[in-house]
Amino acid sequence: MKKRFLRLLFLSGTVLTLLTACEYDYIVPAPPKPAPPANDTISFSQDIQPFFNAKCVSCHAGSIAPNLSAGLAYSDVVPAYVVANSPETSQLYTVCAPGGSMVSYGNVTNAEVDLLYRWIYAGAKND
Ligand code: HEC
Repeated sequence: MKKRFLRLLFLSGTVLTLLTACEYDYIVPAPPKPAPPANDTISFSQDIQPFFNAKCVSCHAGSIAPNLSAGLAYSDVVPAYVVANSPETSQLYTVCAPGGSMVSYGNVTNAEVDLLYRWIYAGAKND
């Protein structure tokens, strides 16, 4: 009788533990980025190249692809690392976006990632 009671106690303890130990972690996807305005004016020479100069050319000036130095960067990244109008599928953007492999290398800020996003979204023109 005592044995049965102990077993029951053990079983109910196990069931309780199992029931309370489960915890669901829902992964909340990042909200889609709002589309930049149609009249957005981001220029490769005025906005993107200065960003490359400040944060990337210390490593990307020849030996490590892509070459991001002035005069060479555009043809080195478009189209190899950029899908015009599609930042999310452009490696140049994804490596600099939060979680990307270049964020800590280049100390990339949110404002800089945003420039890349808007430039690619608007067609990644060499302007
Ligand atoms: C400290 C050095 C360093 C800095 C600074 C740096 N990178 Fe890189 N980058 C690398 C190395 C090394 C690789 C080769 C792949 C790897 O190790 O992840 C690379 C690879 C890449 C690639 C190719 C990714 C691939 O998987 O083929 C791109 C695109 C890139 N970097 C962009 C950038 C941009 C844009 C910046 C500036 C914000 C930057 N990198 C800053 C070192 C650096």
